[in-house]
Amino acid sequence: MTQQQWTAVDDYFADAFLGSDEVLDAAVAASDSAGLPAIAVSPVQGKFLNLLARSMGARRILELGTLGGYSTIWLARALPADGRLVTLEYEPKHAEVARANIAKAGLAGLVEVRVGAALDALPRLAEELADGRAEPFDLVFIDADKEHNAEYFAASVHLTRPGGVIIVDNVVRGGDVVDARSERPDVRGSRRLIDTVSAEPLVSAIAMQTVGVKGHDGFVMAIVQ
Ligand SMILES: C[S@@+](CC[C@H](N)C(=O)[O-])C[C@H]1O[C@@H](n2cnc3c(N)ncnc32)[C@H](O)[C@@H]1O
Repeated sequence: MTQQQWTAVDDYFADAFLGSDEVLDAAVAASDSAGLPAIAVSPVQGKFLNLLARSMGARRILELGTLGGYSTIWLARALPADGRLVTLEYEPKHAEVARANIAKAGLAGLVEVRVGAALDALPRLAEELADGRAEPFDLVFIDADKEHNAEYFAASVHLTRPGGVIIVDNVVRGGDVVDARSERPDVRGSRRLIDTVSAEPLVSAIAMQTVGVKGHDGFVMAIVQ
């Protein structure tokens, strides 16, 4: 199998299931013209996240890594009118583009974009939960820098309700996740994540590899018990 075939199959599924979506197309165009990197989830992955959130009746969603708000829009569309999505983004420029895209999608009332390092934002979310200002999350989508995924996951476990789900994207690193001697920060980050998740007694989890328009990829899925 080649990347060309994986892309053709993804395109076929996107044509069959998604059709055209002016709001998401505009979000991608605005992100591109602002110079943001083209590293959002694919349309098929976005719909998968949307279906997952809807299937669990998610009312509160946390996202780490906003970029231009593409996955944010897919996830926020799954929320009821009184739902809430908090998304964490390090780059002010990405957050600005995302806010505009989210507003154009009519979702500004449901989504809060917080600017800063996720490692700083997560303890603040824990404080809000502890003092009753916020409820635990039903779904967490981790898609920021890959180096700190273990820390992001460990913090997210305590921000998620029992029965809630945590997804960590891009854990396969093109297959290099199996290379224990790799010195690449992203690979080491993925391996530390796998160690952390598999040793965490509060979750039941699996990692799943995927292929598609984004190459050989994959994600961790964990249910907090
Ligand atoms: C893969 S992109 C997110 C893509 C987005 N979830 C989507 O699918 O549309 C990763 C994002 O994480 C942000 N990021 C990187 N390091 C971060 C950090 N320490 N804290 C929060 N966000 C970070 C990057 O600036 C980038 O916008």
